[in-house]
Amino acid sequence: MQVDGRQIRVTVRAISEPAEDIRLFELAPESGAATPYPAGSNLTVTLPQGVRTLTRCYSLVGEAPTDGAWRIAVKRVSPSRGGSAAMWALAPGAVLTVTEPTSHFELALGRPEYLLVAGGIGITPLLGMAERLERLGHRPRLVYAARKRSQLAFLDRLQALLGDRLTILVGEEGGRLDCAGEIARLDPAAEVYMCGPVGMMAAMRAAWTAAGRAPIRLRFETFGSSGERPAVPFTVHVRDLGSAVEVPVDRSLLDALADAGIDLAYDCLRGECGLCAVEVTAGAEALDHRDVFLSAEQKHAGTRLCACVSRATGEITIDTGYRPALDRAGQQ
Ligand code: FES
Repeated sequence: MQVDGRQIRVTVRAISEPAEDIRLFELAPESGAATPYPAGSNLTVTLPQGVRTLTRCYSLVGEAPTDGAWRIAVKRVSPSRGGSAAMWALAPGAVLTVTEPTSHFELALGRPEYLLVAGGIGITPLLGMAERLERLGHRPRLVYAARKRSQLAFLDRLQALLGDRLTILVGEEGGRLDCAGEIARLDPAAEVYMCGPVGMMAAMRAAWTAAGRAPIRLRFETFGSSGERPAVPFTVHVRDLGSAVEVPVDRSLLDALADAGIDLAYDCLRGECGLCAVEVTAGAEALDHRDVFLSAEQKHAGTRLCACVSRATGEITIDTGYRPALDRAGQQ
């Protein structure tokens, strides 16, 4: 169950491909115009998946809706947790339900310097931030990394906006993010915003800590689809449920538990808020954490798992707080 959010029907007005494996969707509300949002906001989308539905959260592209539509960009991932495949199956004219934009990744203004760090599809929230900072005269720098040059999206727009304050790093051309070097260049009170794969963000967080920088000045968001290991189906034993839950490769643990009748609370659906975290009582060695909510120590301990994005590679046992006997007693 999502914690909040008014439901809005939208029509897919247009679809384009700003880079290899990335599609940009224009979503126009059936009544009224798309409302403005703070840069870095997300749109939660309910998608069809056979006879079921799934819910996914995508960053809004750009600083503001200028023509009545919201825009989200979705990378084609394989294997998909379901959202990518469902979005890529859409055609113009499709009707979806979304919630009003929400923000977990807001800009704090008034800092002396800003560095934005994007990895792959992680450019989506940072494009709007770059536009807002530039409009306010903050002259941000952006480091944008991708594996292949063809996977860099919105490049013309970024170059026109930032000029030589845009650094492109292409992995297959030898480009590597120098986390310590980038941090050393910054004003002591500078702020960094980043979004990308968990490995890139873990490296940046480690370098930030090693440099003795204030944790509050490093802000980040993930997209919850990259882990240490490839996604595979896995089996979850749930305390008091009485039967195992199979999590296929195209469903999240959160989705699979909902299918089994266990509705966990959730909000961000990207591994950031921790609301969906469950207790792990066996199988810690099989966990593949894909969130940015739990600390490195908590992940190492293996006793909690964010059900919206994290996975496993074998059998695990969890306690969700589900107690059917107590529920029945409570109804008597
Ligand atoms: S819903 Fe926020 S971490 Fe899972």
